[in-house]
Amino acid sequence: MNPSARPFEHDGIAFGCDYNPEQWTPDVWDEDIALMSEAGVDLVAVNIFGWSHIEPRPGQYDFAALDDIIGRLHAAGIRVNLGTGTASPPAWLSRAHPEMLPMAEDGTRRYPGGRQAFCPSSPVYREAALRLVSAVVARYGDHPAVALWHVSNELGCHNALCHCDASAAAFRRWLQDRYVTIDALNRAWGTAFWSQTYGDWCEIGTPRATLSSRNPGQMLDFHRFSSDELLSSYRAEAEVIRRGSAAPITTNFMVTAHIENLDYWSWAADMDIVANDHYLDHRLEDPRAELAFAADLSRGLGGGAPWILMEHSTGAVNWQPLNKAKAPGEILRNSLTHVARGADGVCFFQWRASVQGSERFHSAMLPHAGTDSNVWREVVELGGIVDRIGEIAGSRVVAEAALIFSWESWWATQDDSRPSKALGYLDQVHAAYGAFHSLGITVDIVAPGADLSAYKLVVVPGLHLVRERDAVLITDWIAAGGTALVTFYSGTVDEDDRVWTGGYAGPFREALGIHIEEFAPVGPETALPLTSGATGRLWSERSHVTTAVAEASFTDGPSAGHPAITRNAWGAGSAWYLATLLAAPDYRALVVRLADEAGVRPAANVRGADDAFEIVRRRGTDASYLFVVNHGSAPLHIDADGTELVTGAPVCGTAEVPGGAVRIIREEAAA
Ligand code: GAL
Repeated sequence: MNPSARPFEHDGIAFGCDYNPEQWTPDVWDEDIALMSEAGVDLVAVNIFGWSHIEPRPGQYDFAALDDIIGRLHAAGIRVNLGTGTASPPAWLSRAHPEMLPMAEDGTRRYPGGRQAFCPSSPVYREAALRLVSAVVARYGDHPAVALWHVSNELGCHNALCHCDASAAAFRRWLQDRYVTIDALNRAWGTAFWSQTYGDWCEIGTPRATLSSRNPGQMLDFHRFSSDELLSSYRAEAEVIRRGSAAPITTNFMVTAHIENLDYWSWAADMDIVANDHYLDHRLEDPRAELAFAADLSRGLGGGAPWILMEHSTGAVNWQPLNKAKAPGEILRNSLTHVARGADGVCFFQWRASVQGSERFHSAMLPHAGTDSNVWREVVELGGIVDRIGEIAGSRVVAEAALIFSWESWWATQDDSRPSKALGYLDQVHAAYGAFHSLGITVDIVAPGADLSAYKLVVVPGLHLVRERDAVLITDWIAAGGTALVTFYSGTVDEDDRVWTGGYAGPFREALGIHIEEFAPVGPETALPLTSGATGRLWSERSHVTTAVAEASFTDGPSAGHPAITRNAWGAGSAWYLATLLAAPDYRALVVRLADEAGVRPAANVRGADDAFEIVRRRGTDASYLFVVNHGSAPLHIDADGTELVTGAPVCGTAEVPGGAVRIIREEAAA
C-alpha cells in the first residue's frame, strides 16, 4: 500500500450501496433516504453512471439533480462515495467520435447501447473523461459529504482488451519502453518460430484473431499492456481529483471470478483503500469458498489492511445462466464473511431495484416487493449488526498460512496451445484454497515475490509462470524451516513464457527433489487412483524422485508407477509436491498432514459442524474478534471466552453457533 495514501476515515464499519437516483423521480428520493436511515445506511455511491445526466451536451453541465441528491444525503447524515461518472460515455460522444469505440479481436467494433463502450487507449475518450472529472471535482471537491472518490466503475469489466488502431499504437509504445530494441522483443517473443521475426516496430499489432494459434509472448505482453493501460486511465482521473480534493480515492476491483484481465498486484498501491465487488458465482463448484478466497485476496492486495466491499448482492444477479436467490440468512452470512476476512465496509449493488434497463431483475436492498419482504428485513438486521460491531474497524486478520496467487500465471496458463484445455488456473487455486477453507484455516493471499517470513505454511498452486528470483525466495524460505506445497505445472515457464528446461518445475526442481520428464494430462472423465487410496484427476506426470520421498504414486493411467505426491527435506524445511488435482476430501487430508507438520491450526477449535463454516480472527489493539459463520443447519460449538457481539451474551469456555447463524466474539486479551 502506498505510504502516502489518504486514509478512509469512517466511524465503524461502513454500510451502504450504489444509488442510481437518475432512474427515479424526486418524490421517490425522499422515501429512499428515509428508508436508508432506517436500515443504517451511511455510505452511498452516486454518479457512477451519471455522465449523460450531468453533461447532456458537450461542455454543458447540469448539476442540479446531483446537487440535490448529495444535499439530501448529507442532511440525513449519509456520506457520499462519489463516482467520477466516466464509466459509460454518453451517446453524443461516440456519435461524434466513432473511432473511440472498442474493437474485438476479429476487428469488429462494439457499439454503444450497453456500457463501457470505449477503447481504453482512445485519446478522445481520455480527454472527454478528464474534462468531466475536472468539472465534478470543481463542484464537489470540498463538499463535506464526500467521504471517498469512486473512479469510473469496474475498469476493464467489458472493454479490457481492445484491438483498434489506437490500441495497437499504444501497445507499440508500451513495447518500446519495455524492450528498447526490436531484437530484444524478438528474443523475448521467440519470433524465430514460424517466421514471425519483426524488422520494425510498425509491423507489430495487437494479437488479433489469426488462423492458427498466436504468439504466446505477444499474448502475454498484450495482457500486461492492457492492464497497465486501464491503470493509467485510473491514474489520470486520480491525479485530477488529488489536485482538487483531499478525500481518499479508489476504484472497485473485480476479484476474481472469471475476470482475469487486470493484474491487481500492480494496481493496489495506487488505491487509498482497496475496494472490491463480489458476486457469488453459482457456476463454480464451491461458490462460498470462492467468496472467502476473493475476500482474502482483497485483503492481500492491501497488504493486510482493511478494505471495502463496494458491491455484492442481497439476492440473485441477472448475468449468470441461472440466477439463484439467496437462502434465508445468507445475506448476513455472506456480508459478515467479508467483514471477518478484513472488510471495513459492506456495500451492495444496489439500493432500489430498477424497473427498467437490463438490470431490472437484479436484486437490491429495497426489492420490487418493497419493505414487506425477507430481503428488506435481513438488510435492516444486517445494518443493526454492522452498527453494533463498529469497534472491529481497523483490526487485522491473523493468518499463519499463505497462498501465492499470480495474474500472470493465470494469463499464461490459459493462452492458446497448452497441454490441456480442461484445466484452468483458478481450478488449481480454488482446489488448494478450498482444502484450507474446509478446515477453517485462514490463509493470506500474497503475490509472487512477497515476504513469507510471517508464515509457517505456504501453498504454491499452479504457479506456471515464475521469475527465478521469486522461486528462489520461496525455496530459501523453505530451507529456513518453512513447509511448502508446490502443485503441478508450477515453474514451467519464465516471465517471457519460455520453458524452463532440464525437467519441469524449473527453478523449484532441486528443492522439490524430483525430475519431471513429461506431462500426461487426462480428460475430465478419467479418475487417477493413487497408492494412498486418494484419487486425482485432470493431470498426471511422468517423473522420478531424486532426493524426495514418494508419499503416493499413480496406480493407473498414463503415469502409472510415477510419483503423485512427494516430500523432500530441504534445509530445515520440507518441500511437498503434488502432481495431480486431488478430489476435495483427499486434498483436505493432504492439507491436514501439512498443517500438522507446520503447526498451523484454525483460529479456534470447532466441534459438530455439519457443513462448511468460517472461523477467522481479527486482532485489534485492545481485543481480538473471533468470527464464526455456520453455513450448516446443525449447531456447532467453538472454544472461546469473551462477549458475543451479535447477541450481547457472555461466552465462557465454549459458545454455541446455531445452524445458519453468525457469531462474533470479542476476546478481551489480544489472543
Ligand atoms: C457490477 C457493476 C454494477 C452492476 C453489478 C450487477 O459488475 O459494477 O454496476 O452492474 O455488477 O451485478
